[in-house]
Amino acid sequence: MTVIAVISMKGGVGKTTVTSNLSATLTRFGQRVLVIDLDPQNALRLHCGIPVHETGGIGRDTLQGVSWENLDFRSPGGVQVLPFGVVSDEECMVIERHLVEHPGWLGDNLANLGLDEDIVILLDTPPGPSVYLQQALSIADIVLVVLLTDAGSYAVLPATETLLKHYGAFRRGFLGSYYVLNQVDASRTLSRDVMEVVRHDLGARLMPFPIHRDEAVSESLAYQKPVLDYDRYAQASQDFEQFAKWLIQKLKDKTA
Ligand SMILES: Nc1ncnc2c1ncn2[C@@H]1O[C@H](COP(=O)(O)OP(=O)(O)OP(=O)(O)O)[C@@H](O)[C@H]1O
Ligand SMILES: [Mg+2]
Repeated sequence: MTVIAVISMKGGVGKTTVTSNLSATLTRFGQRVLVIDLDPQNALRLHCGIPVHETGGIGRDTLQGVSWENLDFRSPGGVQVLPFGVVSDEECMVIERHLVEHPGWLGDNLANLGLDEDIVILLDTPPGPSVYLQQALSIADIVLVVLLTDAGSYAVLPATETLLKHYGAFRRGFLGSYYVLNQVDASRTLSRDVMEVVRHDLGARLMPFPIHRDEAVSESLAYQKPVLDYDRYAQASQDFEQFAKWLIQKLKDKTA
């Protein structure tokens, strides 16, 4: 199995959007995918078309001390989904204390699921440093950092690099960290300028196909669908297809 963590130091940049749309597109290309929501906001389920009345998830199971085996959620497109679940603020603090005391929580729970070797696991994470991010980074084979083309995202690049070095650089089997530009608007000078600077700074670690800002992305969320199912000709649908193909190639290079 290959574990991919989707992260960012800033909130609202599109981590959950990238996780859900990438998982749907990879599934369309025949790749088996499991997505896991490591964010107590529990938003991934909406992006994946899980009915709102469902309250179960890994957070609830952790509170109850049971394994994740009985969580059986699937998006309409066939992506296996482990939501965080609905938890109160007090319960969230209990879960977070448990994670601090059990640094192997995520790895152990995944091992218990007995997943196939060829599955790709995408982890959605909360913004900024957190115990969930630590758990994700400590087992990730690949890290995808989502960035907007604005000054705020550019400003947090050094802090992101420090974090990635701490977790990934010296771990055996770590395949690399890559940056993904989201909500790119090529008609805006700032967007184009930041893209150029980031390309210069990151070189091959920048995913070469930016995800454009596209109304179809927000509209598709209103229908709880991936953008590919909402409008397959939308710019963002094509962007996610290129992104998925790029990632599949990276996975092939790994096994070659
Ligand atoms: N490429 C895009 N084009 C248009 N809108 C987008 C795009 N990507 C994300 N959005 C919108 O931006 C908003 C934030 O996206 P999302 O919730 O995925 O961010 P996030 O990084 O997961 O946020 P959080 O840090 O709170 O977890 C959503 O309304 C989403 O529909
Ligand atoms: Mg999110």
